[in-house]
Amino acid sequence: MALSGQRIVIIGGSSGMGLASARAVSAAGAAVTIASSDQARLKAALAGLPDSCDGAVVNTRNEADVAALFDRVGELDHVVYTAGDTVRPQPLADLPLDTARDLFEVRFWGAVAAVKHAARRVRPGGSIVLTSGTVAVRPAPGTALAAAGAAAVEGLTRGLAAELAPVRVNAVRPGAIRTPLWDPVPEPRRAELFATLADRTLTKSIGEADQIAAAHLYLMENRFVTGTVLTVDGGSILAGG
Ligand SMILES: NC(=O)c1ccc[n+]([C@@H]2O[C@H](COP(=O)([O-])OP(=O)(O)OC[C@H]3O[C@@H](n4cnc5c(N)ncnc54)[C@H](OP(=O)(O)O)[C@@H]3O)[C@@H](O)[C@H]2O)c1
Repeated sequence: MALSGQRIVIIGGSSGMGLASARAVSAAGAAVTIASSDQARLKAALAGLPDSCDGAVVNTRNEADVAALFDRVGELDHVVYTAGDTVRPQPLADLPLDTARDLFEVRFWGAVAAVKHAARRVRPGGSIVLTSGTVAVRPAPGTALAAAGAAAVEGLTRGLAAELAPVRVNAVRPGAIRTPLWDPVPEPRRAELFATLADRTLTKSIGEADQIAAAHLYLMENRFVTGTVLTVDGGSILAGG
Protein backbone atom coordinates (compact mmCIF):
# COMPACT_ATOMS: atom_id res chain seq x y z
CA MET A 1 0.00 0.00 0.00
CA ALA A 2 1.22 3.50 -0.84
CA LEU A 3 1.08 4.75 2.76
CA SER A 4 2.59 1.68 4.39
CA GLY A 5 5.47 2.67 6.70
CA GLN A 6 4.94 6.38 6.09
CA ARG A 7 4.93 9.04 8.80
CA ILE A 8 1.93 11.37 8.83
CA VAL A 9 1.04 14.33 11.06
CA ILE A 10 -2.61 15.39 11.31
CA ILE A 11 -3.16 18.73 13.02
CA GLY A 12 -6.79 18.76 14.10
CA GLY A 13 -6.61 14.97 14.35
CA SER A 14 -8.51 14.68 17.63
CA SER A 15 -11.95 15.16 16.04
CA GLY A 16 -14.11 15.10 12.92
CA MET A 17 -12.35 14.96 9.58
CA GLY A 18 -8.85 14.81 11.07
CA LEU A 19 -9.75 11.89 13.34
CA ALA A 20 -11.40 10.04 10.45
CA SER A 21 -8.20 10.54 8.45
CA ALA A 22 -6.06 9.28 11.32
CA ARG A 23 -8.15 6.09 11.31
CA ALA A 24 -7.94 5.73 7.53
CA VAL A 25 -4.19 6.33 7.16
CA SER A 26 -3.29 4.13 10.11
CA ALA A 27 -5.44 1.36 8.57
CA ALA A 28 -3.39 1.93 5.38
CA GLY A 29 -0.20 1.19 7.34
CA ALA A 30 1.06 4.68 8.26
CA ALA A 31 2.44 5.84 11.61
CA VAL A 32 0.37 8.84 12.65
CA THR A 33 0.79 11.74 15.06
CA ILE A 34 -2.44 13.58 15.81
CA ALA A 35 -2.19 17.09 17.26
CA SER A 36 -4.75 19.41 18.80
CA SER A 37 -4.98 21.99 21.58
CA ASP A 38 -7.15 20.18 24.16
CA GLN A 39 -5.32 17.42 26.07
CA ALA A 40 -8.51 15.62 27.17
CA ARG A 41 -9.92 15.57 23.65
CA LEU A 42 -6.60 14.30 22.31
CA LYS A 43 -6.47 11.51 24.90
CA ALA A 44 -10.02 10.41 24.11
CA ALA A 45 -9.21 10.31 20.39
CA LEU A 46 -6.01 8.29 20.92
CA ALA A 47 -7.95 5.73 22.96
CA GLY A 48 -9.87 4.79 19.80
CA LEU A 49 -6.83 4.66 17.50
CA PRO A 50 -4.26 1.85 17.01
CA ASP A 51 -0.88 1.84 18.82
CA SER A 52 0.82 3.11 15.65
CA CYS A 53 -0.69 6.54 16.52
CA ASP A 54 0.60 9.02 19.06
CA GLY A 55 -0.51 12.50 20.05
CA ALA A 56 0.83 15.97 20.79
CA VAL A 57 -0.83 18.94 22.46
CA VAL A 58 -0.36 21.81 20.01
CA ASN A 59 -2.18 25.11 19.90
CA THR A 60 -1.69 26.37 16.36
CA ARG A 61 -2.23 29.93 17.59
CA ASN A 62 1.32 29.60 19.01
CA GLU A 63 4.07 29.24 16.42
CA ALA A 64 6.41 27.85 19.11
CA ASP A 65 3.99 24.94 19.70
CA VAL A 66 3.93 24.16 16.00
CA ALA A 67 7.73 24.42 15.67
CA ALA A 68 8.19 22.08 18.67
CA LEU A 69 5.83 19.52 17.10
CA PHE A 70 7.82 19.26 13.87
CA ASP A 71 11.19 19.35 15.73
CA ARG A 72 10.00 16.33 17.68
CA VAL A 73 8.58 14.44 14.68
CA GLY A 74 11.53 15.08 12.35
CA GLU A 75 11.31 13.70 8.79
CA LEU A 76 7.82 12.85 7.63
CA ASP A 77 5.81 12.04 4.52
CA HIS A 78 2.53 13.93 4.78
CA VAL A 79 0.90 16.68 6.81
CA VAL A 80 -2.87 17.15 6.98
CA TYR A 81 -4.20 20.35 8.51
CA THR A 82 -7.86 20.27 9.62
CA ALA A 83 -7.64 22.42 12.77
CA GLY A 84 -10.49 24.89 13.05
CA ASP A 85 -12.49 26.48 15.83
CA THR A 86 -16.22 27.22 15.87
CA VAL A 87 -17.29 30.31 13.92
CA ARG A 88 -20.73 31.85 14.34
CA PRO A 89 -22.23 33.73 11.37
CA GLN A 90 -22.14 37.45 12.10
CA PRO A 91 -22.68 40.48 9.84
CA LEU A 92 -19.52 42.55 9.36
CA ALA A 93 -21.20 45.64 10.81
CA ASP A 94 -21.51 43.85 14.18
CA LEU A 95 -18.01 42.41 14.11
CA PRO A 96 -15.25 44.15 16.08
CA LEU A 97 -12.18 44.17 13.84
CA ASP A 98 -10.10 42.21 16.37
CA THR A 99 -12.73 39.44 16.32
CA ALA A 100 -12.71 39.53 12.53
CA ARG A 101 -8.91 39.19 12.48
CA ASP A 102 -9.12 36.34 14.98
CA LEU A 103 -11.28 34.32 12.57
CA PHE A 104 -8.13 33.77 10.49
CA GLU A 105 -5.98 32.71 13.42
CA VAL A 106 -6.46 28.92 13.54
CA ARG A 107 -7.74 28.13 10.04
CA PHE A 108 -5.36 30.33 8.04
CA TRP A 109 -2.37 31.46 10.16
CA GLY A 110 -2.23 28.08 11.92
CA ALA A 111 -1.95 26.42 8.50
CA VAL A 112 0.77 28.90 7.52
CA ALA A 113 2.74 28.06 10.68
CA ALA A 114 2.33 24.32 10.08
CA VAL A 115 3.58 24.51 6.50
CA LYS A 116 6.45 26.83 7.48
CA HIS A 117 7.79 24.33 10.02
CA ALA A 118 6.88 21.10 8.22
CA ALA A 119 7.86 21.73 4.60
CA ARG A 120 11.63 21.21 4.84
CA ARG A 121 11.07 17.90 6.60
CA VAL A 122 8.75 16.38 4.00
CA ARG A 123 10.43 13.46 2.22
CA PRO A 124 10.41 13.12 -1.60
CA GLY A 125 6.95 12.16 -2.86
CA GLY A 126 5.33 13.68 0.22
CA SER A 127 2.58 16.24 0.49
CA ILE A 128 0.68 18.75 2.55
CA VAL A 129 -3.14 18.86 2.60
CA LEU A 130 -4.98 21.94 3.86
CA THR A 131 -8.70 22.59 4.46
CA SER A 132 -10.96 25.31 3.05
CA GLY A 133 -14.76 25.03 2.66
CA THR A 134 -17.53 25.68 0.13
CA VAL A 135 -18.17 28.96 1.93
CA ALA A 136 -15.15 30.22 -0.09
CA VAL A 137 -17.23 30.15 -3.26
CA ARG A 138 -20.85 30.22 -2.02
CA PRO A 139 -20.96 32.48 1.04
CA ALA A 140 -24.19 33.31 2.86
CA PRO A 141 -24.87 36.60 4.64
CA GLY A 142 -22.88 36.72 7.89
CA THR A 143 -20.07 34.52 6.56
CA ALA A 144 -17.93 37.08 4.73
CA LEU A 145 -14.92 36.56 7.01
CA ALA A 146 -15.26 32.78 6.95
CA ALA A 147 -15.47 33.00 3.15
CA ALA A 148 -12.37 35.17 3.03
CA GLY A 149 -10.48 32.78 5.32
CA ALA A 150 -11.39 29.73 3.24
CA ALA A 151 -10.53 31.54 -0.01
CA ALA A 152 -7.22 32.60 1.54
CA VAL A 153 -6.41 28.94 2.28
CA GLU A 154 -7.11 28.07 -1.36
CA GLY A 155 -4.81 30.85 -2.59
CA LEU A 156 -2.18 29.75 -0.08
CA THR A 157 -2.45 26.18 -1.44
CA ARG A 158 -1.71 27.26 -5.02
CA GLY A 159 1.10 29.60 -3.97
CA LEU A 160 2.77 26.99 -1.80
CA ALA A 161 2.42 24.28 -4.47
CA ALA A 162 4.48 26.52 -6.77
CA GLU A 163 6.93 27.55 -4.04
CA LEU A 164 7.55 24.21 -2.34
CA ALA A 165 7.63 21.89 -5.39
CA PRO A 166 8.42 19.02 -5.56
CA VAL A 167 6.59 18.85 -2.21
CA ARG A 168 2.92 18.70 -3.24
CA VAL A 169 0.38 21.00 -1.63
CA ASN A 170 -3.38 20.49 -2.02
CA ALA A 171 -6.57 21.43 -0.19
CA VAL A 172 -9.91 19.77 0.43
CA ARG A 173 -12.95 22.04 0.16
CA PRO A 174 -15.68 20.32 2.21
CA GLY A 175 -19.38 21.04 2.04
CA ALA A 176 -21.48 20.44 5.17
CA ILE A 177 -19.99 17.44 6.99
CA ARG A 178 -21.43 15.72 10.08
CA THR A 179 -18.71 16.26 12.72
CA PRO A 180 -18.47 17.53 16.32
CA LEU A 181 -17.92 21.03 14.86
CA TRP A 182 -21.72 21.28 14.81
CA ASP A 183 -22.20 20.15 18.44
CA PRO A 184 -22.71 23.73 19.71
CA VAL A 185 -25.98 23.81 17.72
CA PRO A 186 -28.50 22.19 20.10
CA GLU A 187 -31.00 19.52 19.03
CA PRO A 188 -33.56 19.59 17.48
CA ARG A 189 -32.18 22.66 15.68
CA ARG A 190 -29.11 20.72 14.50
CA ALA A 191 -31.21 17.98 12.89
CA GLU A 192 -33.36 20.63 11.18
CA LEU A 193 -30.25 22.45 9.97
CA PHE A 194 -28.75 19.22 8.59
CA ALA A 195 -32.03 18.46 6.80
CA THR A 196 -31.99 21.94 5.23
CA LEU A 197 -28.33 21.66 4.24
CA ALA A 198 -28.86 18.16 2.83
CA ASP A 199 -31.74 19.46 0.75
CA ARG A 200 -29.37 22.03 -0.80
CA THR A 201 -27.11 19.33 -2.26
CA LEU A 202 -27.51 17.19 -5.38
CA THR A 203 -26.98 14.03 -3.32
CA LYS A 204 -29.60 15.10 -0.74
CA SER A 205 -27.18 14.28 2.03
CA ILE A 206 -24.82 15.65 4.65
CA GLY A 207 -21.24 14.50 4.17
CA GLU A 208 -19.50 12.14 6.56
CA ALA A 209 -15.98 12.58 7.96
CA ASP A 210 -14.91 9.30 6.28
CA GLN A 211 -15.66 10.83 2.89
CA ILE A 212 -13.21 13.66 3.65
CA ALA A 213 -10.66 11.11 4.89
CA ALA A 214 -10.97 9.35 1.51
CA ALA A 215 -10.17 12.67 -0.21
CA HIS A 216 -7.14 13.14 2.06
CA LEU A 217 -5.92 9.67 1.16
CA TYR A 218 -6.29 10.32 -2.56
CA LEU A 219 -4.34 13.59 -2.34
CA MET A 220 -1.56 11.93 -0.32
CA GLU A 221 -1.25 8.91 -2.61
CA ASN A 222 -1.54 10.45 -6.08
CA ARG A 223 1.91 11.87 -6.87
CA PHE A 224 0.65 13.72 -9.97
CA VAL A 225 -1.70 16.00 -8.01
CA THR A 226 -0.57 19.34 -6.64
CA GLY A 227 -2.00 22.85 -6.35
CA THR A 228 -5.49 21.36 -6.44
CA VAL A 229 -8.57 22.27 -4.41
CA LEU A 230 -10.71 19.13 -4.23
CA THR A 231 -14.38 19.87 -3.59
CA VAL A 232 -16.26 17.21 -1.58
CA ASP A 233 -19.72 18.71 -1.13
CA GLY A 234 -22.47 16.48 -2.53
CA GLY A 235 -22.75 18.95 -5.41
CA SER A 236 -23.93 21.79 -3.17
CA ILE A 237 -22.09 24.43 -5.19
CA LEU A 238 -23.79 23.24 -8.37
CA ALA A 239 -27.15 22.94 -6.63
CA GLY A 240 -26.94 26.51 -5.41
CA GLY A 241 -26.65 25.46 -1.74
N1 LIG B 1 -17.82 20.17 9.42
C1 LIG B 1 -18.15 20.92 8.40
O1 LIG B 1 -19.32 20.97 7.97
C2 LIG B 1 -17.11 21.76 7.70
C3 LIG B 1 -17.40 22.29 6.43
C4 LIG B 1 -16.45 23.04 5.77
C5 LIG B 1 -15.21 23.27 6.36
N2 LIG B 1 -14.95 22.78 7.61
C6 LIG B 1 -13.63 23.03 8.18
O2 LIG B 1 -12.92 21.81 8.26
C7 LIG B 1 -12.02 21.84 9.38
C8 LIG B 1 -12.24 20.58 10.22
O3 LIG B 1 -13.56 20.60 10.67
P1 LIG B 1 -14.23 19.41 11.50
O4 LIG B 1 -15.64 19.43 11.10
O5 LIG B 1 -13.43 18.17 11.41
O6 LIG B 1 -14.15 20.05 12.98
P2 LIG B 1 -13.97 19.41 14.44
O7 LIG B 1 -14.56 18.04 14.50
O8 LIG B 1 -14.45 20.43 15.40
O9 LIG B 1 -12.37 19.29 14.57
C9 LIG B 1 -11.58 20.43 14.64
C10 LIG B 1 -10.22 20.04 15.14
O10 LIG B 1 -9.42 21.24 15.24
C11 LIG B 1 -8.74 21.22 16.49
N3 LIG B 1 -8.42 22.58 16.89
C12 LIG B 1 -9.26 23.63 17.14
N4 LIG B 1 -8.56 24.71 17.52
C13 LIG B 1 -7.24 24.34 17.51
C14 LIG B 1 -6.03 25.01 17.81
N5 LIG B 1 -6.01 26.30 18.21
N6 LIG B 1 -4.87 24.33 17.72
C15 LIG B 1 -4.86 23.02 17.34
N7 LIG B 1 -5.96 22.34 17.02
C16 LIG B 1 -7.14 22.99 17.11
C17 LIG B 1 -9.73 20.53 17.44
O11 LIG B 1 -9.11 19.97 18.57
P3 LIG B 1 -8.97 20.73 19.99
O12 LIG B 1 -10.32 21.21 20.37
O13 LIG B 1 -8.41 19.67 20.88
O14 LIG B 1 -7.97 21.83 19.78
C18 LIG B 1 -10.22 19.41 16.53
O15 LIG B 1 -9.30 18.34 16.53
C19 LIG B 1 -12.32 23.15 10.13
O16 LIG B 1 -11.40 24.14 9.73
C20 LIG B 1 -13.71 23.52 9.62
O17 LIG B 1 -13.95 24.90 9.64
C21 LIG B 1 -15.86 22.01 8.28
